[in-house]
This record gives sequence, structure tokens and C-alpha cells, in this order.
Amino acid sequence: MRRLLVAGNWKMNKTNREAVSFVSELVDKVKMFKRCEIAVCPPFTALSEVVEITNGSNIEVGAQNVYPADSGAFTGEVSPLMLKDIGVDYVIIGHSERRKYFKETDEFVNQKVHSVVEKGLKVILCIGETLEERQANKTFDVVKRELVGGLKGITASQLENIVIAYEPIWAIGTGITATPEQAEEVISFIRSEITKLYDNEVAQNFRILYGGSIKPDNFEAIVAEEDIDGGLVGGASLKVDSFARLVEIAEERQA
Ligand code: PGA
Repeated sequence: MRRLLVAGNWKMNKTNREAVSFVSELVDKVKMFKRCEIAVCPPFTALSEVVEITNGSNIEVGAQNVYPADSGAFTGEVSPLMLKDIGVDYVIIGHSERRKYFKETDEFVNQKVHSVVEKGLKVILCIGETLEERQANKTFDVVKRELVGGLKGITASQLENIVIAYEPIWAIGTGITATPEQAEEVISFIRSEITKLYDNEVAQNFRILYGGSIKPDNFEAIVAEEDIDGGLVGGASLKVDSFARLVEIAEERQA
């Protein structure tokens, strides 16, 4: 049985003080949920303190970006080494907002994936199609291109430290969720592509999340789908109560 993961992507939200108060409350609210995996991904400025507060708890911590080098003349960037040094567990890579606003290509995304797994950190690799691509029946092509491009050169054992988040771009922050059937259709396709790239056993153990306007009232139906192993949550991860409720739903599904 794959372990469900509920990860909160805070994006560019919460000052350090707000982050500290959020996680201090969250630690207590979710401490009884031991079956599913829980992660929060604050902005860089809050990572260190969030790691400290969640130390010894069942909450892991992720960064939202990384630069694929250990150190050097890359003004404004943060390296996998620096993230590892402060105790970060996960790094979100290839989010559609980074692909769109910062022009990140599949090749650059792939370099980031390599740099992060080489440091022993875990990756949440985001892929997904735009509305125009869906309407032009290009969903599977786009998802496959981003999947194959992002995982280029990654071995089966490195893949154990990677999860995919399928995030249809038209569902991110729009209030429009993909139906559970739409999400399952693409996620089961991703799993079949993983089988082709690796093998069936690897694919069966590999986790694939859904992301895009997840809320407490739609999450149960989403994680009820066979291939969906949790969620990457933006808006609904910013309130302790709704995020804790999502964790509870995943916990109930995990059994
Ligand atoms: P959303 O964002 O839940 O606010 O739609 C999800 C994401 O971008 O990861």
C-alpha cells in the first residue's frame, strides 16, 4: 500500500511570525495522524524556524524551489546543500508558476531534480497541462513530455525519493477542481508511463498526487480514486483547520 502524502504549498504567503504561529498550532492538531505523511512548504525565509518547530513531530518540511548547484555566483538563489543543512526534507520542483513566470524548461527542471536527489532530499515534481492544451486534446502529450523530461537520467532507486504532483494548470487557484475521474484518468496514465520507463513494481510503489483547488469538501472523492496518493494543496493549506481536515481525510483513506 502506498503511503498517502498531503503537502501544503504556501507559495509566497506568510511572514516568519505567521509561519511560526501556524506550525505551532498545526503540530498539535495533526499529531494523532500517523498513517499518512504530512508536509508543509513555507517560503525560504521561514524554513529554518519551521524545521525547528516541527522537529520530532510527524510533519515534514519542503522548500518551494532550488538552484541546481552547491554554491557559487548565482545571486538570489538557494542550493540543495543549504536546504539539506537546515533539515529540509522535500523540494517542490517544476511548479507551473515557476515554469510560467520564470520560464523554467523541462531541462532545467531535470537539472534541479538531479541536484536534489543527489543530496538525499526528496522531490515533489509538478507536471500538468493548460486549459488550451486540454481543449486541444494534448493533455497526455504534455504530461508525458514533462514527466519524461523531468525524470531524464533518474534511476529506479533515485525514483524512491520522488513523487509526482499532477496539477492541471486550469485547476490551480481557480476554484475549478478536476473531477476525480479526470484526475484519475491522467494519474493512471502517468503510472503506466512510469511502468514503461522503469517497471511495473516500481510504478506500483510510486506515489502520484493531485493538485489544484483541493478543499476539504472535494478531497475525499479525490483520494478515493485508486491511483491518487494524496494532494499538493495551495490555498486550503494556508488555514490550520482546513489543512488539518485534509490530513484527517487522507488518514481515513489510508487505513
Ligand atoms: P491551489 O494550488 O490548491 O490553490 O489550487 C495548488 C498548487 O498550485 O500547488
